[in-house]
Amino acid sequence: MNIIWNKTYGQFHLYNDSISYIIGTAPGGELTNLYFGKRIHAADDMSYVIFRMGMPNVAVDADTESYSMELNRQEYPSFGTTDFGTQAYEIEMSNGSRVSSFVYKSHTIFPGKKQINGLPATYAKDEEAMTLEVELCDEVAQASLVLSYTIFDRYPVIARHAVFTNRGNTRIKLTRAMSCCLDLPDQDYEWMQFTGAWARERIPETRKLGTGTTSIESKRGTSSANQNPFIIIKRPHTDDFAGEAIGFSFVYSGNFLAAAEGGTHGRLRILMGIHPDRFTWPLDKGDSFETPEVIIAATDKGLNDLSQTYHMLYNNHLVRGKWKNEPRPILNNNWEATFMDFTEEDILRIASKAKEAGVELFVLDDGWFGERNDDFAGLGDWVENPEKLPQGMSGLARKINAMGLKFGFWIEPEMVNPNSNLYRRHPDWVLATPGRKSSLGRHQLVLDFSRPEVVDHIYNMLFKVMSDAPISYIKWDMNRSLTEVFSMDASSEEQGTVYHRYVMGVYSLYSRLIEAFPDILFESCSSGGNRFDAGMLYYAPQAWCSDNTDAIDRIRIQYGSSYGYPIVSIGSHVSAVPNQQTGRSVSISTRANVAYFGTFGYELDLNELSDEEFAEVKDQIAFMKKYRDLIQFGRFYRLRSPFETDQAAWMVVSEDRSRAVVGFYCMRSNVNTLPGFLKLAGLDPDRQYSMEGEKYYGDELMNMGITLMRFYKEGFTISEDHASFVTVLEAV
Ligand code: GLA
Repeated sequence: MNIIWNKTYGQFHLYNDSISYIIGTAPGGELTNLYFGKRIHAADDMSYVIFRMGMPNVAVDADTESYSMELNRQEYPSFGTTDFGTQAYEIEMSNGSRVSSFVYKSHTIFPGKKQINGLPATYAKDEEAMTLEVELCDEVAQASLVLSYTIFDRYPVIARHAVFTNRGNTRIKLTRAMSCCLDLPDQDYEWMQFTGAWARERIPETRKLGTGTTSIESKRGTSSANQNPFIIIKRPHTDDFAGEAIGFSFVYSGNFLAAAEGGTHGRLRILMGIHPDRFTWPLDKGDSFETPEVIIAATDKGLNDLSQTYHMLYNNHLVRGKWKNEPRPILNNNWEATFMDFTEEDILRIASKAKEAGVELFVLDDGWFGERNDDFAGLGDWVENPEKLPQGMSGLARKINAMGLKFGFWIEPEMVNPNSNLYRRHPDWVLATPGRKSSLGRHQLVLDFSRPEVVDHIYNMLFKVMSDAPISYIKWDMNRSLTEVFSMDASSEEQGTVYHRYVMGVYSLYSRLIEAFPDILFESCSSGGNRFDAGMLYYAPQAWCSDNTDAIDRIRIQYGSSYGYPIVSIGSHVSAVPNQQTGRSVSISTRANVAYFGTFGYELDLNELSDEEFAEVKDQIAFMKKYRDLIQFGRFYRLRSPFETDQAAWMVVSEDRSRAVVGFYCMRSNVNTLPGFLKLAGLDPDRQYSMEGEKYYGDELMNMGITLMRFYKEGFTISEDHASFVTVLEAV
């Protein structure tokens, strides 16, 4: 890995073993992209790439008559001079002008990577990454812009963000500040997004790009289940196993915009950042604004390779603390077993059975605090309800610990019910527009986390419950979108900062709780997977993937999530049947076969199972304990897509390729068809593996495949509705 500065020609070449990113200085002084892709040799001068032959309608100036920014690739374009494409940023100056142009002033190159103030970001030691910071300035706006690029040594990854600073004496306003722009030289790409809604999150959707704009966004205050802040740009024939693709993952949990704009001269512009709607950031003398970061990853080996890059990068350079690369405890959560209707006795009964099965952590979900007996009351009052917890959280935690289980509980710190002591005392602490009706979501309002005193108050309440009891885990929920956003504490000029400051408030509460309780495992949740993004993973290394716990639906949700997020971050549990969301009944074995590929746990009362099922649960837990290291941290391969066939399959392989676990699922039977073969991936072609008591060569398993006939048992065929198997391969 290295970053070379070619002073004569004003060019930077960032490279490692797999990729090159080459930046030049355009005739006007702006930064122009010369190349991004597979590693190439650094030529002396690459400015021949800059296009000057045409007769642009408007040129930069008399000396560079044939040079227009519209016909070239920009690193961080503005609108208002010769580029008519979508701009990466916009500044409103005190006279109302929005035209600006930042030109090269200086740069620094240093080992490692800096953090971003108050925001999540990947991190690296000096020997693991190198960073280029280019300082640009606009003399008229009296502002500076720093574009930051980090290249990681071991990954085909560039991390980017931007920092604006007001260097003058008058206030300027940022009205748009994307985190990155990448201009590519052609448009022969498909766009892949991860779309959904509550209970059907992160379903891949692909379409061909061309001229015009394709975009996704969230304006809900959270990254959202509707569109995930992760996109892939791929060549039309790229699939999981071969081909070029570039991923863009936003390390942020609030409003966002991701767009691909095809110009009529062939350029393809990719932009990602905070959504510019309802975003205005005033900068007074000396003030700075730092954007969140975008992680750009590239591959020429297909989408499994791209996903593995994100999995490994996030496990090694985003997740922090005690739970970094730590196998996750197998938990039992009481939500679907009791909802809010429970006594301490009920909880102890469920926990005791969980312990008998081999569960390691018990989680008490919603309903333990304030007047919280239904959705209508209690949020905001983070004190135990003595009727449910007679000796408080600490009493229950100690009893559960005494059984030999760890203990954790549920919170929803960003919310308040109008029927709560907190709201009665501080009605101005919510996001609400004066004179207008506040829309409720699940009968709750959103606290104004842009105000530090609100965050402080919640911190103090939570600190008390968390420090009184021996707590190992917290499930942090967030159950509604933001509406009527207005802070009663902010001036009219500051209202455009509220969405972002809200997210910063959430991050600051996370940071303070993590600092106070560094060993606690946080799991983020937002009505299931409404805020499953790379920003959250910096604080909470796992996320409840979906409130839809139906195993068949979960195959798709987990498959879709695996494109951008590590398997160990995917919260997945076995729940009761008929499933509470879909009414479907699936065997306990298929439910577990799906849930293994994630954090694993149970979302039910194990007392309700038959003896045979309970015996099976014990075996499942023993299996997961044996293989979770491999499943959660191995190389994950998607093998067969549930979006293209009635079957699905995936596998994980250990780094040394000596062990693998394969999962196969038949979502819907196809009567009178042959079982066929399942080709595996990632094995050593020359080694023999044992599987189900037989030996097979790696190349045999990868090229011919497993014959699925192998998994027919008496009274059971693998092509039945909801049939599945999980099998282990060990090198001999
Ligand atoms: C959300 C979560 C669920 C559960 C409930 C509790 O819906 O996604 O898992 O915690 O809240 O109210």
